[in-house]
Amino acid sequence: MLPRRDIRQLGINLNHWYALVRSRDLSQTPLAVVLWGEAIALYRDETGQAHALEDRCPHRQVKLSHGAVVGTSLECAYHAWQFDPQGNCAAVPYLEPRQKLPTCKIRAYPVREQDGFVWVYPGDASLLVAQDDAPLPLPEWDHLNYIATVATIDCEAHFSFLIENLMDMHHGHLHRGFQAWSAAVLEHLEEERDRVAAHYTAQSYYRIDKIWSIAQLFFPALRQLHPEPLRVSYAYPNWTSSLGQDFKIYCLFAPTGPTHTRAYLIHFVSLEAFERLHKLPVKFRRFVKNSLFGAAQTMLDGLVREDVVMLEEEQTAYLKHPDRRSYELNRTVIAVQRLIATQAPQASSVPEA
Ligand code: FES
Ligand SMILES: [Fe+2]
Repeated sequence: MLPRRDIRQLGINLNHWYALVRSRDLSQTPLAVVLWGEAIALYRDETGQAHALEDRCPHRQVKLSHGAVVGTSLECAYHAWQFDPQGNCAAVPYLEPRQKLPTCKIRAYPVREQDGFVWVYPGDASLLVAQDDAPLPLPEWDHLNYIATVATIDCEAHFSFLIENLMDMHHGHLHRGFQAWSAAVLEHLEEERDRVAAHYTAQSYYRIDKIWSIAQLFFPALRQLHPEPLRVSYAYPNWTSSLGQDFKIYCLFAPTGPTHTRAYLIHFVSLEAFERLHKLPVKFRRFVKNSLFGAAQTMLDGLVREDVVMLEEEQTAYLKHPDRRSYELNRTVIAVQRLIATQAPQASSVPEA
């Protein structure tokens, strides 16, 4: 096992898909995003297709994300050079008759839109073809029987603190005000080359089996603790979980650098138990699904707020005393640290903060 201080310095494996923004936030107005120190300009072209280019105009090195979309290209805000989705210079408005377009090229990243997110592959694209890799599927996103809520995590901490938090279910204590879960017991741990899965049992407050069970969300007296399997997996670089049959949560990681992590938490409540609902017309069921989107927002934002305080304190404490040893009793966390170390590039890949 690597010492703790080393884990907090390790880089991410870029040879994976990363969910950088929500689909609904990407328009023809370019977005500037950073993934592990790499500045990326994301935009949707005039046909609706999403693209990702290195956020740098090779003319004078300013950010391309200040520019505007023209057709399928991105036009720099400064002298209006245009770059096509492959990163080639496609137009210069003041080219003299004998001048040719400059051959400068910027990096273009593979992009996929899937299940409400824009995914970018920042690694070696030749590996991507070979591995036939795909972004993590969220099958509940479009499924009529699931209600989704999304929260964004932005925290001043290395990503390892966040994934350790998500895999160590003994921290239900922190969220007792929200009555998320309690009394987790680790039953079984699986460790593979690119995945750690921990099987807990926990006490759940909610059981969504009758139409009136929804009232539990508002009246705590209606809740009854009962044991449910609680499964959490670190499917590098993302996290998936399920609590009983009713709740599924994903966390999509997009670390911006060694001391700042962005991630998206997507929470699904299942309506599987409401059989009568399934017999209604699809149009109505879609209406129900869309109307209830964000139903768990207050709870999810609250959980994130509580976690972020802890993660940022861990980071601050680490920066102050990198040699101070922490005590770990949950072997899941040790397995997570091993996976981070296995996936991290051999050479130091930590960009400047
Ligand atoms: S700096 Fe981008 S076109 Fe001149
Ligand atoms: Fe938490």
